[in-house]
Amino acid sequence: MKTRTPLIAGNWKMNKLMNEALAFAREFKPLAQEAVHVDIAVCAPFTCLAALRDEFRGTNIRLGAQNMFYERQGAFTGEISPAMLLDVGCSWVIIGHSERRELLGETDGDVARKTRLALETGLLPIVCVGETLAVREAGRAATHVRAQTEKGLAGLAPDDLRRVTVAYEPIWAIGTGRTATAADAQEICAAIRATIAGFAGPAAGDIRILYGGSVKSGNIAELLKTGDIDGALVGGASLGAAEFAEIVRLARV
Ligand code: PGA
Repeated sequence: MKTRTPLIAGNWKMNKLMNEALAFAREFKPLAQEAVHVDIAVCAPFTCLAALRDEFRGTNIRLGAQNMFYERQGAFTGEISPAMLLDVGCSWVIIGHSERRELLGETDGDVARKTRLALETGLLPIVCVGETLAVREAGRAATHVRAQTEKGLAGLAPDDLRRVTVAYEPIWAIGTGRTATAADAQEICAAIRATIAGFAGPAAGDIRILYGGSVKSGNIAELLKTGDIDGALVGGASLGAAEFAEIVRLARV
């Protein structure tokens, strides 16, 4: 029996103009209002955050961003600071998504700096890890993900670590319709928890570990039956209010 409250976080990526975001919010709010068994986050593009904050005020839906910079303020043209995210109503921030690592050159070092600063600022980081297909086929998935976890999180104090969520997202399962089996996902999520226990001890038992990669209403229940998966980071299936609400409804541990 798991004691961690499940978290379902939607990751809209670079999708939705303002009117589409507002239409989603208005449809999703009533569908989600009875979901008291689960924490809900919508990680939207920066441009929609202020409007969504107003729409979600007083509801059980928390707002998140998809990235932030690792400095507090200054001459960093185009970047967004964690204080700005807090100011616009975010509780959560995704850090180190594989699309940013692969397309934009984000490193484990960047992920570690961002995670620290998010925590110092009072945001809840969702730190993403995951292997490519080549790494999986070489039999090195667990080793790779363990190293990413350690580099991203080692050195954090246990009380800070407890506010971290880790998202295991195998890159080959993202947006492909190809979900890891619940057993494969569980194996890696257990390895992540063991890694954290190695440097943080019992705090590892309090940390939520999400699975991400083609999660939908048809596979969420099976994933959550496992011992170490505490929720999901949902991309494509978070774009439609009805489907995302169905995932939320089924997210029981
Ligand atoms: P997907 O994306 O659900 O569309 O596979 C997940 C993610 O990249 O966070």
